Amino acid sequence: RRILFVTSEIADYVKIGGLGDVSAALPRALRKQHHVRVLIPGYRELLVSLGNVPVVGRLDGLSSLPACNLGRIETRDGLTLYVLLCPELYDREGSPYVDVNGADWADNDIRFARLGLAAADIACGLGDPTWAPDLIHLNDWPSGLAPAYLAWRGRPTPSIMTIHNLAYQGVFGRDRLGALGIPDAAFQMHGVEFCGDLSFLKAGIFYASHVTTVSSTYAEEITTPEFGCGLDGLLRTRAREGRLTGILNGIDESWDPRTDPHLASPFDANDWKGKSVNAEEVRNAFGLAVSRGPLFAVVSRLVHQKGLDLTIQATQTIVRQGGQIVVTGRGEGRLEAELQNLAARYPGQVGVKIGFDEGIARRMFAGSDFLLMPSRFEPCGLSQMYAQRFGSLPVAHRTGGLADTIEDGITGFLFKDLSLAGFLNAVYRSIDAFGSRRQLKAMRRSAMARSFEWQQSASDYAAVYDCVVRSVGVR
Ligand code: ADP
Ligand code: GLC
Repeated sequence: RRILFVTSEIADYVKIGGLGDVSAALPRALRKQHHVRVLIPGYRELLVSLGNVPVVGRLDGLSSLPACNLGRIETRDGLTLYVLLCPELYDREGSPYVDVNGADWADNDIRFARLGLAAADIACGLGDPTWAPDLIHLNDWPSGLAPAYLAWRGRPTPSIMTIHNLAYQGVFGRDRLGALGIPDAAFQMHGVEFCGDLSFLKAGIFYASHVTTVSSTYAEEITTPEFGCGLDGLLRTRAREGRLTGILNGIDESWDPRTDPHLASPFDANDWKGKSVNAEEVRNAFGLAVSRGPLFAVVSRLVHQKGLDLTIQATQTIVRQGGQIVVTGRGEGRLEAELQNLAARYPGQVGVKIGFDEGIARRMFAGSDFLLMPSRFEPCGLSQMYAQRFGSLPVAHRTGGLADTIEDGITGFLFKDLSLAGFLNAVYRSIDAFGSRRQLKAMRRSAMARSFEWQQSASDYAAVYDCVVRSVGVR
């Protein structure tokens, strides 16, 4: 089958979080069975890396959405990318979602409606005269309007909407309907309306043929008021109809401690010396004192979701127990400042680097003994899988993908109650394990041996694709 995978990030060129990793890996894993092409906005980072992208078609505008060119290019390993060439929307200094000051782009509705409309155009054969997909696979709110535009055109191309994070919904005022070419009649409960506003994610969930999310536990959680972010009613309906599926993310082969070129020393599950070389390197890089105690790492977007307030509150206890903490991340200014204060308060014991650097992150997974991840909710989470592969045991909240990828007491430590006491209890268990070399080694071995293969997820997606194409065909 021909699949168009629509995304707002791809780790090859631009990555903000896990969606970037998934968008780089899943289309490649699917290529064994399907013809997959990726559609992505032509951000500055892409244009700079790709150079000249040949134009294959011209896309019409709609209301305030500008007409633009569609480019097509192949990556070095042969993945076909469609690049939306609309410099006035995407060729800017900043991230896909926010400007250099961290404020949402004021025209995000136009920018991502344009992405959704482009996907619908390509699906209708209006983008590339030589290719149209049998199915479109949308990811998160930025591509949420694609199945809606198709529905309004009366073109029911089968579509999958994957929710990577229900908390980001792309909500805009009702007054934007006209600018985005959305029919007034669609502004209702059975349409794009959400609590009196327009929601891109709601549109995607409502109009897509099938909804998936990135772990089985999160697929259940989002049907409850506690995790449903106001969309639990609709999601319960989709679950009842058999149109909501959880498919766990995987990790790609580059996450291998034996071959990763970013590491200070390669290692494997029988070579703890190699791992300790990485620990030394991390301690140096973060200005920590020499120590024989446990090294805890945090590699995270610095946002409310990730429960960093608990990590901050737990720091004193961890340091008193002889532990050290290294943190890298970027995000909310308040959290960045609080973490920097911690580093100042515990010099030599807590090190913080505000920023985003793949090499540092990889060395931290390799060098640390434990990864702290007390997320309030976690649709899947990739960091805890990377950490396990590199022999760093996650200490994590039993929620979403964390519950599905960590075996408590075997490959990491889970806690149920999201409270400081609950978290500290798991931290104490990890420190105890650190004290018993035998238990620590056994757990590291189990963690490193866990398989998180993309092939499994790819075949689960392929099964959903089949089912959707068949059922839309007969509808
Ligand atoms: P989310 O998508 O919610 O941010 P995930 O765990 O799914 O969470 O994915 C986060 C990805 O981003 C992982 O690949 C992680 O290693 C990476 N990452 C997060 N923060 C940083 C950072 N400061 N520097 C480098 N990589 C980071
Ligand atoms: C989101 C989620 C994260 C997930 C990632 C990739 O950013 O927060 O849990 O792993 O998407 O699916």
